[in-house]
Amino acid sequence: AAVVEHTFIVSQVNMTHLCKETPVIVVNGQLPGPAIEVTEGDSVVVHVINKSPYNMTIHWHGVKQQLNCWADGVPMVTQLPILPNHNFTYQFVVSEQEGTLWWHAHVPLYRATVHGVLIIRARQGVPLFPKPHKEVPIIIGEWWGIQLAYADTTSDYNSASTINGKLGDLYNCSGAMEEGYMMDVEPGKTYLLRIVNAALLSEYYLKIAGHKFTVVAADANYVSPYTTDIIAIAPGQTVDALVVANAAPGRYYMVAMPNQPPKPDFQSPVLPTRGIMQYSNTEGRSLSSDVPMSPEMPDNHDTMVSFYFHGNLTSLHPRHLLVPERLDERMFITLGLGSVCKHDRLSCKRGDGSNESTILATMNNVSFHLPPVSTSLLEAYYNNPSNVDWLQELPDMPPQVFDFTDHSLIPTGPKAERLEPTSKAALARRFRYGDVVEVVFQSTSLMQSDSNPMHLHGHDMFVLAQGQGNYDMEKDVARYNLVNPPVVNTVLVPRLGWVAVRFVADNPGIWYMHCHYEFHLTMGMVALFIVEHGPTVNTSLPSRLLDLIGTANDHFLMHGQKNG
Ligand code: C2O
Repeated sequence: AAVVEHTFIVSQVNMTHLCKETPVIVVNGQLPGPAIEVTEGDSVVVHVINKSPYNMTIHWHGVKQQLNCWADGVPMVTQLPILPNHNFTYQFVVSEQEGTLWWHAHVPLYRATVHGVLIIRARQGVPLFPKPHKEVPIIIGEWWGIQLAYADTTSDYNSASTINGKLGDLYNCSGAMEEGYMMDVEPGKTYLLRIVNAALLSEYYLKIAGHKFTVVAADANYVSPYTTDIIAIAPGQTVDALVVANAAPGRYYMVAMPNQPPKPDFQSPVLPTRGIMQYSNTEGRSLSSDVPMSPEMPDNHDTMVSFYFHGNLTSLHPRHLLVPERLDERMFITLGLGSVCKHDRLSCKRGDGSNESTILATMNNVSFHLPPVSTSLLEAYYNNPSNVDWLQELPDMPPQVFDFTDHSLIPTGPKAERLEPTSKAALARRFRYGDVVEVVFQSTSLMQSDSNPMHLHGHDMFVLAQGQGNYDMEKDVARYNLVNPPVVNTVLVPRLGWVAVRFVADNPGIWYMHCHYEFHLTMGMVALFIVEHGPTVNTSLPSRLLDLIGTANDHFLMHGQKNG
């Protein structure tokens, strides 16, 4: 296996999009940032040099980082942030994963422009699908007219979608359509699209006029080939899809359209974007004057297209046929919005401004809050695993049982009146090494206007079932796919619905588990999944951390218990 080495220089540059010159933070002056290409089993070394004025970390989204939590890139959790004019080197092995993943800044908001694709090719063996003529990364992003505009409600919310950093021709200030993303194809050839949703907020529908996709992988796990004319992809997710250039030679629009549930609160929509798939000249004929054909898009409020897309994926790879049936932990997590109330729930609900703080995003009505620590939590924990006073166990059930998704009960009126009372804590759950954990994520009516792509670091999850409305254990367990469920690192919780996942907690460390919808992440929809040390020790760990893990192990052997 090879060592793939990169240097990432993070800096602030000016870019012009939507008529405005905007300072943006990028890697090596590019948007999207550099692609990392590896063969399964390779090691990756990335030297990050932070020349930006902001604290930075890079997260390798979906890379399992087996016994390598320190390289996961979550500031204050697995490492201290890389300060301006400081460097940090990440080192990790990419193994037992094939397909497409990506990397991004794990500092609030900066992942909008600090991101790139991570391509993992199979090492050997029989290819699972015909070798494509070419591989084409398709990184869907969002451009914000003023960087961080969404953090500053006084500035304009001018936002747009991009394909590989390009806006396309749908905007007032766009230039010619050729300034959008152009994908050149040869007639009859097969292309492998490596699609990443790097957007902060929007779930996307992707279509190419006159062509179909065959989805072969999602989140770097193979799926049974699934042919569709539309791809649904939520923030954080990746999809590998084959496209055969088998239409009449010409030009075809590739459209990325945000799927936007009807918003009860004002929020200006993110506009769609389009690029062009262009056949190469045949018989010397120039196609560049052809008017591209447009795909027919679904209604942008139709979230069922996404529900069915995700529901149609099944795993292909035999190693995933072994879904553990034994269950050590069952968790039920509701996703909501709340505010900290000084008095009681009623005073909070009045929303007169005097009794509430800002809106928080929650799991089981608790919002994540970093404890005051001066080292990373990983280091603090391994230095002194018996001192976990800073941690609050993720409650099993929400303190108040409410109607999760009943449409008739969706409250209207100002947002403040719909918030659930909430507390703030360093929300965490501890697992023994090897525990089989089931999590049911339940979306609530407060989430009706936002999407909930839930992402677990350091592990992949089997997606057993999804449904509309309230999860009902009695009847829904019977619907679980324990034979060939898709395996993902980011699972989309259906709007006003639920999804059930299972994973094996076999990677010691402190792992972020959070919503990949940026507002939810920054507002606290986060928990730490802490996996105790197992029997194996990876000698490639920095020796200091190895010592720390040894300490943690002794502690757990001594106490032989979990969950405090
Ligand atoms: Cu892609 Cu914790 O994030």
